Amino acid sequence: MSDSGQVQELEARHVLQTYKRQPVVLTRGEGTRLFDADGRAYLDFLSGIGVAVLGHGHRGLADVIADQARTLIHTSNLYYHPFQGRLAAKLAALSGLQRAFFCNSGTEAVEACLKFARRYWFSRGVAGRTRFVALDHGFSGRTMGALSVTANPHYREPFAPLIPGVTFVSPDDVASLEAAITEETAAVIAEPIQGEGGVRPLSAEFAAAIARVTKRTGTLLIADEIQCGLGRTGHAFHYQAFGWKPDLVTVGKALGSGVPVGAALVAEHVASQMFPGDHGTTYGGNLLATRAALYVLEQLTGTAAPAPYDGGGVIGHVREVGPLFGERLEGLRARHAVVQSVRGVGVMRGLELTIDAQPVVEKALAAGLLVNRTAERVVRMLPPFTVTLEDIDQAVGILDRVLAEVAS
Ligand SMILES: Cc1ncc(COP(=O)(O)O)c(C=O)c1O
Repeated sequence: MSDSGQVQELEARHVLQTYKRQPVVLTRGEGTRLFDADGRAYLDFLSGIGVAVLGHGHRGLADVIADQARTLIHTSNLYYHPFQGRLAAKLAALSGLQRAFFCNSGTEAVEACLKFARRYWFSRGVAGRTRFVALDHGFSGRTMGALSVTANPHYREPFAPLIPGVTFVSPDDVASLEAAITEETAAVIAEPIQGEGGVRPLSAEFAAAIARVTKRTGTLLIADEIQCGLGRTGHAFHYQAFGWKPDLVTVGKALGSGVPVGAALVAEHVASQMFPGDHGTTYGGNLLATRAALYVLEQLTGTAAPAPYDGGGVIGHVREVGPLFGERLEGLRARHAVVQSVRGVGVMRGLELTIDAQPVVEKALAAGLLVNRTAERVVRMLPPFTVTLEDIDQAVGILDRVLAEVAS
């Protein structure tokens, strides 16, 4: 049996079968390229579902990780180390939210925010303000709390009962948002661009309604920036495009460019209602993860200084290539009736098809391009932020041929 065959056979016997994998064994990466066990190259327009934002095999990041691994990886949150404060300060300058709680994944960042929202009202002596409002098509993770504010019934139903008191509203319906927020609502949680739900940016009207209603009622606003944040759309955070002033923000994915790390960013008025023991995690904010994340943010923003984002760094590159990516995808829509719409901003893009996206994903893989299917009919693309125009043209060329094939 080939090496690839052995890998797949061993997994089939021993790994819990919660993922449907594509039949490739990836072993190495270089920039926007991945290589499989047989040495075949793939253009990576998914980057580990929006994670490897600096590209694969990044020498600078690898050096930082190696150096820190040789020095000290982890000590727990019982002691100080040099990097948590620096990373928190950098995130504070970028987001305007003064404090950070570090964790190890996106879903943990969401869990933290849900807890902090409830704690805020509890600390203030407001009884019963414990409910959440979330959006149809929203995805915020798969642990119990995060799943409770995730819309897809397919993910939710087998695990009921989830945490009670979550109301879902349509992101096309301002009136239902207004009606859903009551004196019992602790927080509204929303992705500025819904990723898993099909790369759906909130409309300007709905985004403005969220800002208006949360402000009027004092309801906390949690912006889930795990997929759209940290420069993917050309903004440090996409909520900034809406002029939101969220009380809590989740980050993950891009933050470590592959090193597992997440954070809940917390505005000072919420942070002041949290106390030692309220939340914690053994690994959260360890030296390896926070030093790597500091390096990633330095590359993304073009500066080590804790300062508001000024247009430079790798995010500056996203600002240049992002609109061109959008134009190229619009070209696909013009040429292929099977493409219904082009969605997204910057290097977070979706092709909404009139048919199931799976055959497109499989044919693209066979042609050497990694993309994925989400919300059934959407081909999702989340390339590394370092993606070049040549990469984009190559990917669009492959999709052009694949779309012609699936339509014939
Ligand atoms: C918007 C959003 N929130 C939360 C999550 C959960 O993050 P993780 O998979 O790192 O737990 C994701 C993951 O896709 C996401 O896109």
